[in-house]
Amino acid sequence: MADQLPDIEDHAVLLNYLRDTGRIARNEIPTFTNLAGGVSNRTVHVRRENGECWVLKQALHRLRVKVEWLSDPRRIEREALGMRRLASLAPQGAITRLIFLDPGPNLLAMEAVPQPHANWKELLLANGPQPEHVRQFAQLLGCVHRRAYENRDTLGSEFDDRSFFESLRLEPYYLYTTDQVPEAAPFLRALVERTRAIRQTLVHGDYSPKNILVHDGRLVLLDHEVIHFGDGAFDLGFSLAHLLSKAHHLHDHRAAFAAAATSYWHIYRETIADVPWATDLEARAVAHTLGCLLARCRGRSPLEYLSPESRTRQADAAFAMMQRPPDRVADLVDEFLGRVQA
Ligand SMILES: Nc1ncnc2c1ncn2[C@@H]1O[C@H](COP(=O)(O)OP(=O)(O)O)[C@@H](O)[C@H]1O
Ligand SMILES: [Mg+2]
Repeated sequence: MADQLPDIEDHAVLLNYLRDTGRIARNEIPTFTNLAGGVSNRTVHVRRENGECWVLKQALHRLRVKVEWLSDPRRIEREALGMRRLASLAPQGAITRLIFLDPGPNLLAMEAVPQPHANWKELLLANGPQPEHVRQFAQLLGCVHRRAYENRDTLGSEFDDRSFFESLRLEPYYLYTTDQVPEAAPFLRALVERTRAIRQTLVHGDYSPKNILVHDGRLVLLDHEVIHFGDGAFDLGFSLAHLLSKAHHLHDHRAAFAAAATSYWHIYRETIADVPWATDLEARAVAHTLGCLLARCRGRSPLEYLSPESRTRQADAAFAMMQRPPDRVADLVDEFLGRVQA
């Protein structure tokens, strides 16, 4: 499959597209800026003459990575549906408004997060975590998981398809890692099987600081293309692995990241209140955290900020902990950081 046309990064082409499809007037001249960001999409900022700002996002068939990695660009339709539904599940203002979806060229337009804003990953790497941001990160996820569970009758069927989660998460993270670290294969295969069997709530699937913008002190969540109805513990493990990898990486902020990871879990847990699947959630979140800590060193998508030595140290720690995983997130944090102590 060729990459999608019109190529929205070509501004003359984009201008014609917006005019021809009636999204803007024939004589309007917006300002376009290509955004650097992910590897799987084109993203372009559009400033309209009336001052309104959009971000156009176009899913690519061929991901911009060294090895060939293909993914069905119709995932943009999933993202648009996710954006619509998340808007009523997440706290007010935490989700960008969808302006339009055009399935033909695999693109959507959403409102742009106003300037000034910062990417949360960059803030974390530069300054360590701020408790208020951690609190919002936990409440946002807890709120979505609890409300999506309450609306499971409709959301369960709307988000039943998990093919993007399989091809963009389970395969490149867990299954690919079983080939790289065969000793970890029994743990990872069991984790994959359990994940496939669980359908409890809406799972964002890419709940990473990189997909959070901070504007005016408020967190805004982006990038919903692997959203599906499944195992909420995946989101917890995926995000906890980000916080713990940064704790490992940033010696000076290690204690703050450790406290952030533990309070993230506690605030999330309070937010989901008494959903019935909360009972064994902590142990399942720990398992996904260990799986992701290893996968982000040995899977197809290693964390770019970890040095080769750090990746080895982190992979060894995660693998060792898979032999007897702790039951509690607080113990996971302590043991992991004890093991990677440089
Ligand atoms: N609505 C938006 N407002 C401002 N910036 C955005 C918006 N959507 C995306 N971006 C920018 O583009 C980057 C990539 O977008 P994202 O949806 O995460 O795509 P990808 O799937 O390629 O990672 C984001 O990290 C952010 O910097
Ligand atoms: Mg992204």
